[in-house]
Formats: sequence, C-alpha cells, structure tokens
Amino acid sequence: LMIKILLLNGPNLNLIGTREPDIYGTETLESIVNNLTALGKDLQADLTAQQFNSEGDLIDALHNARFTQNGVILNAGAYTHTSIALRDAVSAIDLPVIEVHLSNVHAREPFRHHSMIAAGCLGVIAGFGARSYDYALRALIDHLNNAS
Ligand code: DQA
Repeated sequence: LMIKILLLNGPNLNLIGTREPDIYGTETLESIVNNLTALGKDLQADLTAQQFNSEGDLIDALHNARFTQNGVILNAGAYTHTSIALRDAVSAIDLPVIEVHLSNVHAREPFRHHSMIAAGCLGVIAGFGARSYDYALRALIDHLNNAS
C-alpha cells in the first residue's frame, strides 16, 4: 500500500536555485521535487508536490490534503514566521505535518527564530539545504509506518 505525501512549498521557493544561492543553494525546486519523488518511490510513498506564493492557496492545499494524503512536508517560507492562519490550518487537518527549511533559520535574523506553525507540527527539520526535504520524507514515512 503506497503512502501518500504532499510536499507543499510556500512563497519565493519557486525561485530557489537562483535566489540567494549562498543561503538556499543552487538546486532548483524542480530538481528537489524530482529527487524527492524518486526517494519516495524507493520508500513506497507517492509524492504530490505543490508550490504557492499566496497564503490562501497554501491553506486550501492543506484543507484538500485532508482527504487525499497521509501526511504533509511543509516549507511555508516566510509565512512560517507570520501566519496564524497557516498554523490553524495545520492544526485543523488531522494529518502529521513536518516543517522544513533549507536554511538554519536559528542561525539567521531573529525574526526567523520563531515559527508560528511549529507547535502544530510533528517536528521541524532545518539547515540541511535540499537534504532537509529528504530527512523530512524519511521521518514522515517512519512515523506513518509506526503509527499504522
Ligand atoms: C526558508 C526560511 C524562511 O525564513 C524564508 O523566509 C524562506 C525560506 C528556508 O527554507 O530556509 O523563504 O523557509
């Protein structure tokens, strides 16, 4: 039985690869999605990837995941630090969500140290570049296999 996982990326993450490469690396989102899809296949998971720049679209995607997915990997970008609405959406859906960041947000500006959404998440992985997504996928699959 395939586990279904939503990879949801927020604002400005469509530009990684060229956006501040010293912070976010040179790998594009398309490449990350392709690699994560392949890793998912190896681990018996079916990955769906979506990216939205607007908060409402991210909330809609979380709501829709309720009926179609077993878990979510979420990089909410800057909304991580600001959005009570996204936090409420994470809490509203009965799915495990892992918060992910490419950069180590705790080693950056103070405004990136607080996450509005982390308390509603299963856990947080930050600071490993594109590998943060790999670790999140492995953690989520382990969690889902042990929870069922
Ligand atoms: C980010 C960290 C956020 O602080 C920032 O606003 C982003 C990307 C990361 O993946 O490192 O857009 O979520």
